[in-house]
Amino acid sequence: MKIIKVKNYEELSQKAAQLVAKLMHKKPDATLGLATGSTPIGLYKQLIAMNQEGLISFQQIKTYNLDEYCDLPQSHPQSYYSFMHEHLFDHIDILEENVHLPECECGDLQAAVDKYNQMLKKTTIDLQVLGIGRNGHIGFNEPHTPFDQETFIVRLEEKTRIDNQRFFNSLDEVPKRAITMGIKNIMAAKRILLLISGKSKAETVKKLITSEPSPDFPASVLKYHKKVTVIIDEEAASLL
Ligand code: PGA
Repeated sequence: MKIIKVKNYEELSQKAAQLVAKLMHKKPDATLGLATGSTPIGLYKQLIAMNQEGLISFQQIKTYNLDEYCDLPQSHPQSYYSFMHEHLFDHIDILEENVHLPECECGDLQAAVDKYNQMLKKTTIDLQVLGIGRNGHIGFNEPHTPFDQETFIVRLEEKTRIDNQRFFNSLDEVPKRAITMGIKNIMAAKRILLLISGKSKAETVKKLITSEPSPDFPASVLKYHKKVTVIIDEEAASLL
């Protein structure tokens, strides 16, 4: 893993955007794997600004998101479909048909899982953006998910639901299930960009750096990937 330490969230977002923009210049029809959560919002802001200034174009870019909540309509403000449109897609020149998230609304969740997994198998993600949960999850691959797991329906840990409660009115409203790319799908990306910011992630960073790869801490699998860049700000790195 290549580790880049930066001062703060602003610098982390800028650095991440530079790396994504560099790939987009080199490969204008690149496929990006995208993440939700608070961490990549700054990166998306930077990409929107670059796009609006004409420095990068998304016209040929394809995207695949890591995950989507089950039991929420796509139109719900906290669906990841809505999140991605609010924080990125509505402000850039991407084509809607090039945007992909698991479609949990079809009624048949297993069919949605199979469809997304097939799509992922037919494509190669050039760069996968990742955040990390305090419990080490990547996507919604919670602790003890096997490293060879493909796309699946996950029951979310209480800790994850509590972390995500801030986006909802109450814990009861936070969905209990999601469809997520599995660890195997994530590891198939050519390159991975993991972003970690803030004091609440300091223990997580320490564990990531010091632990042996184990399903107890899903992000540790990234040690098996040849091209991982981790950008960490000072607060997240404070226990190193
Ligand atoms: P966060 O979430 O960016 O909101 O901290 C990260 C994650 O749970 O993957």
